[in-house]
Amino acid sequence: MPDPSDARGSYYATTPIFYVNAAPHIGHAYTTILVDVVTRFHRLRGDDTYFLTGTDEHGEKVAKAAAAAGVDPQTYVDRVTGQFRSTWDSMGIAYDGFIRTTDPAHKKVVQDVLQRVYDSGDIFYGEYSGLYCVGAERFVTEKELVDGCCPDSDDPPELRVEANYFFRMEKYRPWLRETIEANPDLIRPERYRNEVLAMLREPIGDLSISRPRARVPWGIPLPWDEEHVTYVWFDALINYWSHLVTEGLERRYWPAVNHFIAKDIVKPHGVFWPTMLKAAGIPLYAHLNVHGYWLADERKMSKSLGNAIKPLDLQEKYGHDAFRYFLLRDMSFGLDASFHEAGIAERVNSDLANDLGNLLHRTLGMLGRYTGGVIPAFGELGPDDEALRDAFLGLADAVSRRFDELQFDRAIEDVMVAVRKANKYVADQQPWALAKDPAQAAKLGTVLRSVVEALRVASVLLEPVMPTKARELRAQLGLADAPATLDDARRWDGAPEGTATRPGEPLFPRVDLEALAAAMAEPAAPPLEHKDEVTIDDFAKLEFRVAHVQHVEPHPKADKLLVLTVRVGPETRTIVSGIKQHYTPEQLIGKRVVIVANLKPVKLRGVESQGMILAAEDADGNLAVATLDRDMPDGAEVR
Ligand code: MSP
Repeated sequence: MPDPSDARGSYYATTPIFYVNAAPHIGHAYTTILVDVVTRFHRLRGDDTYFLTGTDEHGEKVAKAAAAAGVDPQTYVDRVTGQFRSTWDSMGIAYDGFIRTTDPAHKKVVQDVLQRVYDSGDIFYGEYSGLYCVGAERFVTEKELVDGCCPDSDDPPELRVEANYFFRMEKYRPWLRETIEANPDLIRPERYRNEVLAMLREPIGDLSISRPRARVPWGIPLPWDEEHVTYVWFDALINYWSHLVTEGLERRYWPAVNHFIAKDIVKPHGVFWPTMLKAAGIPLYAHLNVHGYWLADERKMSKSLGNAIKPLDLQEKYGHDAFRYFLLRDMSFGLDASFHEAGIAERVNSDLANDLGNLLHRTLGMLGRYTGGVIPAFGELGPDDEALRDAFLGLADAVSRRFDELQFDRAIEDVMVAVRKANKYVADQQPWALAKDPAQAAKLGTVLRSVVEALRVASVLLEPVMPTKARELRAQLGLADAPATLDDARRWDGAPEGTATRPGEPLFPRVDLEALAAAMAEPAAPPLEHKDEVTIDDFAKLEFRVAHVQHVEPHPKADKLLVLTVRVGPETRTIVSGIKQHYTPEQLIGKRVVIVANLKPVKLRGVESQGMILAAEDADGNLAVATLDRDMPDGAEVR
């Protein structure tokens, strides 16, 4: 481990701290899993690594959610932050720190930073009017609106006129622009760097950093004016710094900071945060890494859009590791990706069950049959064996480069290309044929040992993505459960000969795609059952009329019947109807309903019914009486 005071070789990665206005969904899970994968990779590589996640608990949005849940904000945030934490814990997310913005230690650092910026003269009091989006918790410009609504939501902004404290953000615009221009890797991929540079081409204005306590009481009080609380973004962004300060780790991990976010919060991270750091005299972060959205039905997945899928449901169904594999493999960093459950199943079957799982399964089977289940020694390597070895031993550096370039999908694909080569190698070398000829025993040993090494190397490189399955794979090969390092993927002799293998359950059970498709398909509505056709003359025999309900009472002898007195033009009639379970007398009195007026009168439990009310009934027995969509005089004929 490097000297704690030496920031070189250290790697500090953060997720956004999530709003606690809703339970975690796939979008939150993606960034968190991504940072988990990235930090596991850096640990594998030997970097001094720290992973921070947490929850953003102040602000209007959270206060509103607490009010809607009918509890005070603190009770509410305690509950939802617990949901985030337990979701990450049950998904095996290996975070080092979990910050809550309601932690007293965080509040103190926020107040210290504010005071420092205030003392330096970069905060002033003024009046402001602008368009505010509660969903995004920030003022937006007219240009940012999409069809008059806030970005990523269907809500219009609110016009706000308020006296607040302001941070002189505009003052730092030239500095920020130059800094981003001089550091091509600061914000990446490039499209988001360009997005921020475009914002900086025009005035960015000063940032309103407080809210009057009288209107928004839920927040951190300004140290010099208790009547104002800190604007939620000013409070939230500081989490990345405050956590390290609280833990005494800032010299060790700052500024080796890698923020991971989605494109929704580029402006706060690409504009507010760097200028805040500059004003507070804190060095700038190393990288802002921005990914795209997971889309469902072409829209961003989110709680408010109602299309959010609970991450826990899916990982339960497919397993943690397969779910992580899918998320990392199917999104190109920076671009949007479509989320379809069938996509997970296809990945499981093709890459995991077919290519990787099957290679392990076949290899263990052959070892069982040909070497007594024991890992054999290499014989002399021929060109094919060397080609396979070289393909695998080149992976550690290739994957490492991919990680540095944020090409996580390509990193995985590099490993899977090699795994497919190993499958082809088995098919080409035909160990089953070699096994028949005792003279080929050394060659058979080379082939089987080569595949064992290939599987082992693949397991090391895939371990950050699939920690459990990678260890399980090595356990089935009989290898000791020691923590892997990247150097383990740089050697071709990591599985000692003579090791007894321990074949187990298939690593990745195949998903039955047909059953999945059937389960996901909408159940087909049963066809309507039609009665015999009638002619217009048959129909003309029926007389429908508008009836005005005057009086309703329960049938004296039947539970389900009501006795209605209706006026049909000049006539007053009694109608007995089986709608008592669906309507109270009050709901019916005064209504104009449609009746069959020439139905032969019948006695129902002793009361004569002089007609029948029309009503619609669904398959579950729900009932609605047919009424007219505009006023008609009673007695009018319905045709
Ligand atoms: N609280 C702020 C962040 C403060 S950080 C100092 C916030 N919270 S949030 O709960 O809305 O989380 C937004 C983040 O969740 C995104 O930046 C991204 O990391 C993740 N995602 C939410 N929906 C997502 C998708 N549909 N797709 C990918 N990631 C998504 O903003």
